[in-house]
Amino acid sequence: MSSNKILIVYLSRTYNTKAIAQIIQKNVGGQLISLELEKPYPENYQATVQQVVKENETGYLPPLKTKVDSIEKYEIIFLGFPTWDMQMPPPMKSFLHQYNLAGKTIIPFNTNAGYGVGSGFQTVKGLCPKSKILEGFEIRGGLERDGQYLVIKGEKAREAETEVKKWLHKIKLIKETL
Ligand SMILES: Cc1cc2nc3c(=O)[nH]c(=O)nc-3n(C[C@H](O)[C@H](O)[C@H](O)COP(=O)(O)O)c2cc1C
Repeated sequence: MSSNKILIVYLSRTYNTKAIAQIIQKNVGGQLISLELEKPYPENYQATVQQVVKENETGYLPPLKTKVDSIEKYEIIFLGFPTWDMQMPPPMKSFLHQYNLAGKTIIPFNTNAGYGVGSGFQTVKGLCPKSKILEGFEIRGGLERDGQYLVIKGEKAREAETEVKKWLHKIKLIKETL
């Protein structure tokens, strides 16, 4: 698979998911795109949590500032997002509603505060009914609530890379894990 057919789209507020996205890119290549909103979430964590809970209740899809040019040219799309409110964050739902990923291979990955991916990978399946969805990857990231922001750095980033490589090998995206 030539790496210009790989897109890595991610949402990341405190950069843990971004760290995983960069590790994936280092190992398989591809284009990295960060999802940005027309109207960013508040800096305040609690205000953000409250806004997200409301958006999830009403099904609101926040408009994206990020535009992906010629999505048709990509065959493999990695989708990275943190767990928010035990779900897929609203901006990633916006992305999946906006772009038609039928026929593509979708590979989800997630960071969370230790409570797991929640319903996020199920939502990928629900919103991409005509895509081939490979086994996702999830790893513990930060805990903004307690002031832990970027955690996947230094030794932790090296450990994460070992896990990411095992997963990429398992789903047959790379040949070796060394
Ligand atoms: C609005 C919001 C809601 C969150 N809800 C959860 C949650 O329900 N479960 C969980 O394990 N972590 C939750 N987290 C923590 C993030 O998933 C975790 O810190 C993740 O690593 C953040 O990724 P990022 O650094 O790429 O933004 C939440 C974080 C935010 C900002």
